[in-house]
Amino acid sequence: MPKIATEGAAPFVPEGRSLPVLREAVQHCQGCDLYRHATQAVFGELETHQNATRPKVAMMMIGEQPGDQEDRQGRPFVGPAGKLLDQCLDEAQIDRHAVYVTNTVKHFKWEPRGKLRIHKKPGMQEIRACRPWLRAELETVHPQLIVCLGAVAAQSLLGSKFKLTQAHGEIERAEGLPPIIATLHPSAVLRAQTDEDRHRNREILVEDLKQAAAYLHHARS
Ligand code: URA
Ligand code: SF4
Repeated sequence: MPKIATEGAAPFVPEGRSLPVLREAVQHCQGCDLYRHATQAVFGELETHQNATRPKVAMMMIGEQPGDQEDRQGRPFVGPAGKLLDQCLDEAQIDRHAVYVTNTVKHFKWEPRGKLRIHKKPGMQEIRACRPWLRAELETVHPQLIVCLGAVAAQSLLGSKFKLTQAHGEIERAEGLPPIIATLHPSAVLRAQTDEDRHRNREILVEDLKQAAAYLHHARS
């Protein structure tokens, strides 16, 4: 049967739900056009247990899409935004090694500017097309809490009316999903125009991450 692009990623997602199987299969996805111009798909990972089939994790963190470095290295949040995320996680006393880190969309969307590849925001169609991968990760990893980094991830799970500026740092509920906390994307810190904005955005991100850690702490005790 031909695999029709309008179905999105669903026809490419295998039945066998283990992370290594999914991670291998995502490289063959043609659920939308983004695979055409990317180096590779970047699947989620639990940094220290890349070969674990069904790792137990408390927290799953969802970004937007791979950036230039992620696209080259094949791993999520390893570029500038990832470095900043690492610092903020440290400050919130969250061990990244215990967090499953992934993205809403698995291929890098970009446009050329001179020799650079400039990030382009994924559209609704790509977000929807890629959702079966995110769903497969959620079903496999079963986190107790989802942390959405930025509006793309948050709106993908909570609907396009979700307002990050108003509702960041709060526990949100969506049917069939674990509790969700949304916060700013680290690139909102990197891209801030003034020192003041940069400082404030960073503080919001760290505070919301602390909320996420506190939620899990209470959930466990
Ligand atoms: N930004 C994201 O949203 N995800 C990455 O993996 C890198 C940068
Ligand atoms: Fe498939 Fe997602 Fe890549 Fe589109 S972005 S080709 S749906 S993995």
